[in-house]
Amino acid sequence: MAGFWLFVIPSLIFCLLLVKVMVSKNNKKKKKRNTRCKLPPGSMGWPYLGQTLQLYSQDPNVFFTSKQKRYGEIFKTRILGYPCVMLASPEAARFVLVTHAHMFKPTYPRSKEKLIGPSALFFHQGDYHAHIRKLVQSSLYPETIRKLIPDIEHIALSSLQSWTNMRIVTTYKEMKKFAFDVGILAIFGHLEGSYKEILKHNYSIVDKGYNSFPMNLPGTSYHKALMARKRLKTIVSEIISERREKSVLKTDFLGHLLNFKDDKGRVLTKEEIADNIIGVLFAAQDTTASCLTWILKYLHDDKKLLEAVKDEHRALLKENSREKKPLTWGQTRNMPLTHRVIVESLRMASIISFTFREAVVDVEYKGHLIPKGWKVMPLFRNIHHNSKYFSNPEVFDPSRFEVNPKPNTFMPFGSGVHACPGNELAKLQILIFLHHLVSKFRWEVVGREKGIEYSPFPIPRNGLPATFLQHSL
Ligand code: HEM
Repeated sequence: MAGFWLFVIPSLIFCLLLVKVMVSKNNKKKKKRNTRCKLPPGSMGWPYLGQTLQLYSQDPNVFFTSKQKRYGEIFKTRILGYPCVMLASPEAARFVLVTHAHMFKPTYPRSKEKLIGPSALFFHQGDYHAHIRKLVQSSLYPETIRKLIPDIEHIALSSLQSWTNMRIVTTYKEMKKFAFDVGILAIFGHLEGSYKEILKHNYSIVDKGYNSFPMNLPGTSYHKALMARKRLKTIVSEIISERREKSVLKTDFLGHLLNFKDDKGRVLTKEEIADNIIGVLFAAQDTTASCLTWILKYLHDDKKLLEAVKDEHRALLKENSREKKPLTWGQTRNMPLTHRVIVESLRMASIISFTFREAVVDVEYKGHLIPKGWKVMPLFRNIHHNSKYFSNPEVFDPSRFEVNPKPNTFMPFGSGVHACPGNELAKLQILIFLHHLVSKFRWEVVGREKGIEYSPFPIPRNGLPATFLQHSL
């Protein structure tokens, strides 16, 4: 027995020493790395609160731009209790989103994740994300979305006609309805009217709750949103059961989700399907509506440009009415001026001004340390409004896109593994909408209020109140 202890005690001491050496080596390594690499410049503000008040008490763009002027293209701060590193250069954005994307994970507040649904693709990395992303992409391939053109035309025309019966239209609010209907079309194909209405009703409650204070108490918008979220899941489950009963095979997004099997034969659960459907609706609606609202404002403010855009569409309209045919895919690919108006609006408005990631390890970037757990924010808007990449950046000038922007300087749809899979559908529906708007309608902005509000995406003040009239060319 004594022999046993004579063997065990020195072994234990040896092991303890080994662990100590390893830990101290590791600490030395950390110390070495931390002394070689410094945190980026910038102020962390007050304990916990950081600079949250400064950010939320002013236009966030002014906040980021003044920081960039003071500290350069990479700087640190603390927002809502989280230490953050902001990145305002194309190289840094590419580093985080593309070349070193594996060192950063998507990050959203838990309260928002609960409302959208934790299985929605944009909360994920790795295999699950790749699988779902492929399904979204295949339902949005050009071969698929080109078949949606007549339906999108129908939605655009009936929206526009209904606006002529309204005294004053809150453009953003109505654009949301248009974008929602197109989203429903891409997800479910032709969906029964009653399903569409209850989806719309419940989704609008979720939407309200998403932008409210996340307090889950009866009566609060957040609580109502969670309840509506539950109902949405039930409705989606009913639609799935109906499709399964009828054994309908479709190439819309729901069809792709239902047909999916991974290498082990696992299919997606109803929860996963509902989360991803709500996720895509969420990603598609406000972004597209905000972009369209800005385009209407920019065109309204530049009558010469508006005339030139009308000319582009007059020719197409004449051709199509002569032959009584709808817009073709080829025609939507050949609207160069309107396309430049869209991309310039995306640059000017920079609807997604920035995105969030979280460092999953300590990261070194150009001599700066981004510690594990810190939030990282590539600032798209600052890049789009930097005169190094876009001359006179505050001037709306679609002709700047007659030449391609410098690589990585224009990212309205993000970049890398999480870049927007809906960008072609977004552009298609905007082109179709504008075709009918400029060739058949007139609009006047009501009031002289200028400026931006955040809802949470940037939109013209009060959602751009306007009047719409139908006219013939
Ligand atoms: C003008 C309209 C739009 C803009 C400006 C826009 C912008 C963006 C941006 C910047 C991202 C990347 C966010 C990040 O990296 O964190 C993104 C992701 C995404 N967008 Fe869009 N989007 C638009 C319309 C749409 C539409 C119409 C759909 C679907 C039909 C859509 C579906 C998605 C999805 C599912 C993601 C997440 C992708 C992933 O995580 O892999 N978007 N969008």
